[in-house]
Amino acid sequence: MSDIQTVHVHMNGSNIDEEQMGRAAEILKAGGLVVFPTETVYGLGANAFDASAARKVYEAKGRPSDNPLIVHIADADELDGVAVDIPDGAKALVSRFWPGPLTLVLKKNPDIPDETTGGLSTVAVRCPSDKIARSLIKACGFAIAAPSANRSGRPSATRYSHVSEDLDGRVDMIIDGGDSAIGLESTILDMTGEVPVILRPGYITREQLVEVLGTVEYDEPGVVHDDSHPKAPGMKYRHYAPKGELVLIKGNISDTVRYINKLTDISIKKGDAAVVLCHNDTRERYRSGTLLSMGERGADAETAVLLYDLLRRCDTLGADVIYAEYPTGSVIMDALENRLLKAASFRVLEAPPPKQRSKRRKVIFAEGHGNARSAMAWALFERLYEGSDIDACSRGIVVQFEEPLNQKTEAVLISNGITLEGFTSVALSNDEINGDTMIFAMDERQRQQILHRFSSANDENTFLLSSYVGDDLEVMDPYGGNLQVYGICYEVIRLSVQKLADILMEL
Ligand code: TXA
Ligand code: MG
Repeated sequence: MSDIQTVHVHMNGSNIDEEQMGRAAEILKAGGLVVFPTETVYGLGANAFDASAARKVYEAKGRPSDNPLIVHIADADELDGVAVDIPDGAKALVSRFWPGPLTLVLKKNPDIPDETTGGLSTVAVRCPSDKIARSLIKACGFAIAAPSANRSGRPSATRYSHVSEDLDGRVDMIIDGGDSAIGLESTILDMTGEVPVILRPGYITREQLVEVLGTVEYDEPGVVHDDSHPKAPGMKYRHYAPKGELVLIKGNISDTVRYINKLTDISIKKGDAAVVLCHNDTRERYRSGTLLSMGERGADAETAVLLYDLLRRCDTLGADVIYAEYPTGSVIMDALENRLLKAASFRVLEAPPPKQRSKRRKVIFAEGHGNARSAMAWALFERLYEGSDIDACSRGIVVQFEEPLNQKTEAVLISNGITLEGFTSVALSNDEINGDTMIFAMDERQRQQILHRFSSANDENTFLLSSYVGDDLEVMDPYGGNLQVYGICYEVIRLSVQKLADILMEL
């Protein structure tokens, strides 16, 4: 079933192409399939009243036919056409949250065929707020049954490229309406029992529902039902999962970064392709694996918008393992956690704290004038390990007079988002070298110089940075080189400093 000529149309919600919309409606009227955007995720639509069209949906998706579809209506007053015995609570929710990302499970109107509801006597209904979705339903004049527009077992589609990838050649038309605004599927609330139950958390939160209804229960958030009669039948299938093994890492930021670095190293040594799902603030702190950012830390709604695209990219990259920082936030956290936990098959690891903190509290990066390589090392150490209780500084071995930051060093640092305002070089002094100190030289020649000039320096406290962290090559002296040389130098120092901090925290 991949020989259908799919028509692709591109639309903007604020400027609906009526002619194409008419064409889409004709396809649906004739029992065909149209993929359309909604504010949550893309939907794979068919006439909700047409049993054979519903069967086609299952076929196109490769989805078991006992998994019911969500029926989409354009206005709340169309609800009577698809559901009966609507409780007052449901009516109150409708007036508060529709159109919007809330799906209500209600008693089915007999006009809706069993094929649409997977044989259930109930029906899931939602009224999307997306303008293209609503005008499509209006153009049809009937409700549209639609599951998420992804092949079964893949993450839901939140971008046109995702639907194209999964369903081109399997549906009659795909309407490109840009990226989904929310990025996670609607909240599903079962209104058919004594107490309303959230079957799937989403953008409309439990707190919001409680405000209207008083009591709302959770159907164990994040728990997959393996029994044969789950409340939301779709929840029993493997969902939202990338092909590689996703593992979520919980803990404070430093512990998480250190642990993921360690896990990634182990995976790569084994020959696995590793992806790290980090946040913008930790991107620089990883040394290996392919880095993909889930956005700003704490911005859960932003992460939600990116999530399915990131999971799909893990597949494209051929990731065998994916280590993800556990996200935080307060807008859509229940829904985000639910999807991530499922994608990870509930693999969550606690990042262990350092076994024992380094006894030495002072790290000195030292080099000739103290205003180039050692300044880079110091700035990187500070940025990567902000908040650690180790004091770091940059010192010169030979400082005749205070010098500002070396110009090319400054340029490279700025291009990497680091500014060291008011920096002047400081000479290393014998007094600051004591039992608490570790000095790191950039090359062996300079380490020898330090040992020679400072009586307190010895092999126990003065090290070559590269060999201390297990690197073969020492940090070359970029002096006299062009910006590119300084840039390479920065990269070498960055990797060494990351390893150094990991070692120091675990000593
Ligand atoms: O945001 C959304 O809800 C998207 C867009 C396209 O509207 N749709 C969506 O559909 O996520 P789908 O098929 O991927 O998920 C529908 C979920 C399934 O878990 C299904 O089992 C459940 O809704 N469901 C549908 N009808 C139900 C019913 N009568 N009782 C309980 N659960 C139902
Ligand atoms: Mg789905």
